[in-house]
Amino acid sequence: MKAVAVTPGTPHSVHLTDIEKPTLDQVDDGLGVLVKVLKVGVDATDREINDALYGNAPTGDKHLVIGHESFGIVEAVGPNVKRVKPGDFVTATVRRPGGSIYDLIGTNDMTSEETYYERGINLRHGFLTEYFVDEEEYIVRVPAGLKHLHVLMEPMSCAAKAIHQAYEAQRRMKVWRPKLAYVQGAGQIGLLATLVLKLQGLEVFTIARGEGPNLKSEIVEGMEATYVSTKQTPLADLVKQTGKPDLIVDATGSSRLAFEAMEHVGHNGVVVWTGITGGDKKTEIPSDNINLDWVLGNKLLLGSVNANRTHFESGIRDLALGDMMYPGVLAKILTNPVDGLDNYAEMMRLLVEDDDALKVFVNVADE
Ligand code: BGC
Ligand code: ZN
Repeated sequence: MKAVAVTPGTPHSVHLTDIEKPTLDQVDDGLGVLVKVLKVGVDATDREINDALYGNAPTGDKHLVIGHESFGIVEAVGPNVKRVKPGDFVTATVRRPGGSIYDLIGTNDMTSEETYYERGINLRHGFLTEYFVDEEEYIVRVPAGLKHLHVLMEPMSCAAKAIHQAYEAQRRMKVWRPKLAYVQGAGQIGLLATLVLKLQGLEVFTIARGEGPNLKSEIVEGMEATYVSTKQTPLADLVKQTGKPDLIVDATGSSRLAFEAMEHVGHNGVVVWTGITGGDKKTEIPSDNINLDWVLGNKLLLGSVNANRTHFESGIRDLALGDMMYPGVLAKILTNPVDGLDNYAEMMRLLVEDDDALKVFVNVADE
């Protein structure tokens, strides 16, 4: 069967390859699930993998099948599978367990080992192919009523985890009742984080460069949040208008902006970083000011990566509620379909060149 792969270490090596169709017996104990791939989303991580900045092939292989944002339909299940059945729509988690205690309890996203295993990213093949097999544990059911939001499940899981982590960490305050949040960046993670925070009842300002009205501002306002263009309103001016936020989620992909967020969060507040910055940029920061202000304000900086099954499940619930509250808005994120695995070059071109492409995804097969 067809698969889209790269040769890690070689820039711009994305290519079509032929691999064997997986079988249920590759998973022990009758717990395998065979999924027919319907759609796969790609993001900046795939671009960085193709730039050879990131990612490794499984041991013994030269190529890595990419794609970690999956959406498919169950074709067959092993005899002991309970959670899903043929015909169900599903997505799959990305990280697979290493050996730490966190991995042993199903929280692979929190592994304490330096090496991590991620399908389509690091040391495990991904989903940009026709079929995949995985253990029931890593397969998450998607309600049929959400199939029009297909590849958003995985990015949503990362947004859900980031915000859940912030709330968990803020239990240190005993009485944390956040009211005001900033989300920096209006890419897929920023927009989905905006949704999660709106559904938690916060007032949300989603901040990006471009001047509205544009698609991003339309989506943000469609979720009853406020879109702010830093070209029109610099961050410092916004803070003067709104007061300092209780929470800032950075999803810009810019380490400079991630650090800048530290200058604006309020006392007892939290900044969550979600960007995967593959480069080696250096930025000058007002370190004395930040240091003083953070100590005097009991502030917290948190990094959040990946997501486990519980975040997929809560993310899917939020997508379902969000789709009811704001009909038609979330589907607007799914801007750029590419038809068929054969069109992998167009997929990569959109990812690299088209700044307006909010979400590039491949239509791999029909139901
Ligand atoms: C993926 C995450 C992954 C992270 C780091 C992101 O693009 O969505 O699942 O953990 O990259 O590799
Ligand atoms: Zn991703």
